[in-house]
Amino acid sequence: MNPFRSEFDPAPGLLYLNSGTHSLTPRAVLEAITREERAYEENPTARLMLVWERLWEVQTRLGAFLNADPKCLFLRQNVTEAMNAFILGIPLPGGSEILLSDVEYPAVANIARYRAERDGLTVRTFSLPFTEKELRPETALVVISHVITGTGEVLPVAEIAAAARKRGVLVAVDGAHAAGALPLDFRALADLDFYGSNLHKWTLGPKGTGFGWVSPRHHETLRPLEAGWATFDSPNDYAAFGGGARFPARMLMQGCRNFAPFFAIADTFAFWDRHGADVIRARVRALQRFLEAEVGQTLKWPLLSPPLDGGRRGPLTTYELPAHLEKEGYGLMSRLLKDHGLQVGLPRVQGRWRLRLSPHVYNTEDEIARAVGILKTL
Ligand SMILES: Cc1ncc(COP(=O)(O)O)c(C=O)c1O
Repeated sequence: MNPFRSEFDPAPGLLYLNSGTHSLTPRAVLEAITREERAYEENPTARLMLVWERLWEVQTRLGAFLNADPKCLFLRQNVTEAMNAFILGIPLPGGSEILLSDVEYPAVANIARYRAERDGLTVRTFSLPFTEKELRPETALVVISHVITGTGEVLPVAEIAAAARKRGVLVAVDGAHAAGALPLDFRALADLDFYGSNLHKWTLGPKGTGFGWVSPRHHETLRPLEAGWATFDSPNDYAAFGGGARFPARMLMQGCRNFAPFFAIADTFAFWDRHGADVIRARVRALQRFLEAEVGQTLKWPLLSPPLDGGRRGPLTTYELPAHLEKEGYGLMSRLLKDHGLQVGLPRVQGRWRLRLSPHVYNTEDEIARAVGILKTL
C-alpha cells in the first residue's frame, strides 16, 4: 500500500512518469492555493498590506528546509528566472568567458549565450567530467547543473565551486532537480556563488514556485534585473520583509501579483514534515530501483544514468531507445500519451533522443510495471 497516493489526485487513466518536468502537487497544497486566493479576495487591499510579512515567513521556512540564511534567498516563479537573475545580473569583466558543460538545460545555456551577446563576452562548452584545466585566465563564470537533466547524474558542485573559487572564477549552479530530491545544506556550500532551484519538481510544491540563493559575497554586487518599491529602502509594509534587510528586499519580485502559490509553499513543507524527508527520498529511490529491475528484465534497454548506489545519481532514470523509436524523436512522447495514456520525458542528450522516466512518491510499482509493458509493445 502506497502511503502517499491518497494525498494526490492523479488523472484517471494517466500513467504519469515525468515528475522531472513537473511533479503532481498534494491535494492539501492545491487547496491551500485556492484558500489563499479566496481569502485575498475578501479585501485585496488589506491582504496586500500583509503580503511582505507573510512572504518573509515563507522565505524563513524555505531557509530552514535548505539550511540557508533566509537573507541569502529570493523567491521566483521557477529556476529559469533565478538563473536569469544570476547570469544577467552579475558584473563580469569585458572580454571574459562563461563556461558551460555541454549537457546543460538548453534554456539555461541560452541565458549564458544572451549575456555573452549582450556584453561582448564568449561562451565555451566542455564535456564532463569537470577538471580544473577547463578554467582559463579569461573564464569568469561557470554555469553548471547540480543534477544533469538528461541523465540524472549528480555533479560534485561543492568541489567544482572550491576549485573555481581558488582561481577567482564564479559558479552559478542550476539545481532544477535538486531541491527536494537531494538534501541541500547551504551552510556547507560556502564556496558556491549562486544556486537556483524549483519547488514545483521534486519538492512537490505549487506550480510557479522556485528560488535563488546568493552567497553574501555578492549581495552588494549582484544587480537586480528589475527595480521597484523596495529597491532603495523598505518603505511601509516592506519593512516587515526581513526587517528591511537590503539584499532580500532588493531581490523581491516586483509589483502586485497572485501571491497564493508562494503562501502555499508553507503547506508543501507541512507535507514534508508529516512524512519526513528521508521517507520521501527513500520512496523515490525504491521506485527507481523497481523501475530499473523491470526495464532490465523486460526491455533490456541500456541505462544511461549512473548507478543508484554511489552518490552520483539524482531522481531521473534515462535509457537509450531502440533505433526505430529514436528515429521517431519527440513525436514518440505524444504518441505514448495519445495511444497509451503514458507520460514520459524525452530529452535530447548530445544530439540523441533518450527516454527519461521519473516517478515520484505518488506512483506505484504497478504503474511502473504497466508502463514498461507498454514500452515493450512499441
Ligand atoms: C536542469 C534544468 N534546468 C532548468 C530547468 C527549467 O525549469 P523551469 O522551466 O521550471 O524554470 C529544467 C527543467 O526541466 C531543468 O531540467
